[in-house]
Parts: sequence; structure tokens; C-alpha cells
Amino acid sequence: EQREQNALRTAHEWAAKWYHHILMNTEHGQRAASYLRERGFTDKLAQTFQLGYAPAMRNSLAGFLEKKQFSTGQLERGGLARIGDYGAADLFRDRIMFPIHDARGRVCAFSGRTLDGKQPKYLNTPETPIFAKSRILYNLHQAKTEIRRSKTAVLFEGYADVIKSWGAGVLNGIATMGTALTEEHVAVLKRVCEEVVICYDGDDAGQAAAMKCLPLLARAGIRAKVAMLPPGLDPDEYIERYGSEAFVRGIVEAAAAPAAFRLHYARRKYKLQTEEGKAGYLREASKIVASLPSPIERELLLKELAGEFEVSFETLKQESNEVRQELE
Ligand code: CTP
Ligand code: MN
Ligand code: MN
Ligand code: MN
Ligand code: MN
Repeated sequence: EQREQNALRTAHEWAAKWYHHILMNTEHGQRAASYLRERGFTDKLAQTFQLGYAPAMRNSLAGFLEKKQFSTGQLERGGLARIGDYGAADLFRDRIMFPIHDARGRVCAFSGRTLDGKQPKYLNTPETPIFAKSRILYNLHQAKTEIRRSKTAVLFEGYADVIKSWGAGVLNGIATMGTALTEEHVAVLKRVCEEVVICYDGDDAGQAAAMKCLPLLARAGIRAKVAMLPPGLDPDEYIERYGSEAFVRGIVEAAAAPAAFRLHYARRKYKLQTEEGKAGYLREASKIVASLPSPIERELLLKELAGEFEVSFETLKQESNEVRQELE
């Protein structure tokens, strides 16, 4: 059991080196290398994150690992190859390779991105004896130091976001592996930080996913903040367009408290130009405010709403108090 796991880890270590070498030093990797450069991934970032390229050939990795005495069965159990009619066939072909490390820094899986529009956009290693997707946080091994120092982690949706942010100076960035945040992820985070800044994509899916993180973090006693990106952009694209400084100061450091984010999120549903829309939003906003434990925070938010919508503070307070009484 333990021996098998060690063998799979060693195979992954070799595979990461192999893919990285092909990307950085060979003819086969040139198209991938220019794709990455065009997207703003510098050679330094490619090295730090050990990015690679899996060639389009049927069994380039399998051939390499078989020469290193790994069996076809091991490659299959590790999620690196499949056994086909002609022997082992690589799982990842013609993809940019993102090695996934466990918290101790050992390569335990890969995610491979297409360079053209092929589906799926990202192909992930299946569950294996050394890889449980619901527990792994991408880049935790490198981000741990800064997470511990600042007591804060910045949580992204994607690999590209983590890597670009690292280039922008955010050294405490991590991501889930294409799944929603799980209880297991939260338990891992609880051990290393006190605060999580959620920095998901600006689209509806990203914002809805950010909403779902809030109760999980709250239950674990982890303080949450939510960074808000413009609707069409994710962190990677924002950095490309507006630069590192704007991203760090204007987005990450400007992250909102959960209540402010929930108010912002609720707004999207209402047509605020109409009286009906305004009233609907204010009723929902009063509910959100009513659910806050701190009277000071409640008062400040209600004052802000009253000012913005030109209703009296007393009216809003009354609405909110009624909801609170129902809650109690
Ligand atoms: N993801 C996945 N499988 C897919 C699509 C997405 O596992 N078919 C995961 C990946 O971890 C990805 C994350 O979900 O990084 C966020 O998805 P998305 O926002 O669509 O991708 P980006 O990270 O923006 O990727 P890119 O910038 O390369 O387009
Ligand atoms: Mn490594
Ligand atoms: Mn997304
Ligand atoms: Mn994205
Ligand atoms: Mn992206």
C-alpha cells in the first residue's frame, strides 16, 4: 500500500519533470510556450509552477516512464495512462500541464488545458490512491508560508488566477480543483489561517459560488471577505488588462465584508430604476441587514441604504426590526 503510493508519487515527480522539459526546451513544446507567453505567463512563472506540455503523441509519457521501470498497471492506477489495444496510452495529450502538489509539496496529480477549443477545457487526474480532489488546494504548498504569516488566504477559482496573482505579488493564493469549496477544504484552511478572501470570477457562476462559500467559512469560524471583479472578468484577465497594482490594491485589498457582498449580490435581481424594483430590493436588503449580529454594523448599513435610496432611516429600521423579531 505505502510502497505503491510512493511509486505513484515518484512517477508523478518524473512526469512533471518530463512535461516541463518538453515545454521549456523542445521543439514539441514551442506552440504551448508561445501560447503561455501570449497569455502573460512569464518563463519565471512557468518555472515556479513547473508548468509543462504533454505532446500529442499516443504514448510519449508512458514510453518514458516504462523505461524507468514503472509498470503499465501503475501508470493506469496513477491516472497517467490507460491500457488500450496497443499498450499504455497517455491520458494527457496536446495539453498545457499544471502539476498539482499536495500540502507537503509532492506532485500528486495533473490538470491539462487544451490550447484550442477542445472539450473539456481542463482534464483532471481521476481520484487515485494519492489524489483526493475534495481535499487538495492548488498551490497550498507554496502559499503556506505567506498564509501563516498574514493569517489570510486568497481563494481563487482557477490555476491561471493563482499563477497570475503570484506574479502580481499575491503569495497566499490557492484554488480548489474545479469543485466547490468542501468541508474538507475548510478544515485544511482552519489549520493555517483566520481569514479567507474569496476572489472568484466576476460572472454569475463565480458570484453564486462565492455566496455558497460564506456559510461554510462562517461555521468554521473563519472570517470571510469577498473581492468583487467586474462582471466579464476573472482575476487572470483583470491582471492582464489593468495590471498588478490595480488588482492588488483595487480588488484584493478592497474585498468587501460578507454583508456588503450579499447586498451587492441581491441588487442584481432588481430593476432599481422602477419603484417596484427599489421597494423589492430594500425589503431584501433589510432582511440581510437584520440577520447581522452587530447593532453597529446594522445601523451603518441601514444609514447607507437610506441615503442612497432617499428613504428615511426610521422606515428602514422599522422594516429591519420587524424581520428581526420574526427571526427571534
Ligand atoms: N475546471 C475544470 N474543468 C473544466 C473547466 C474548469 O476542472 N472543464 C476548473 C479548473 O480548475 C479551472 C476552474 O475550474 O481553473 C475555473 O474554470 P474557468 O473559470 O472556466 O477557467 P479559468 O481558470 O478561467 O481557465 P483559463 O483562464 O485557462 O481559461
Ligand atoms: Mn515540484
Ligand atoms: Mn469561472
Ligand atoms: Mn475563470
Ligand atoms: Mn481565466
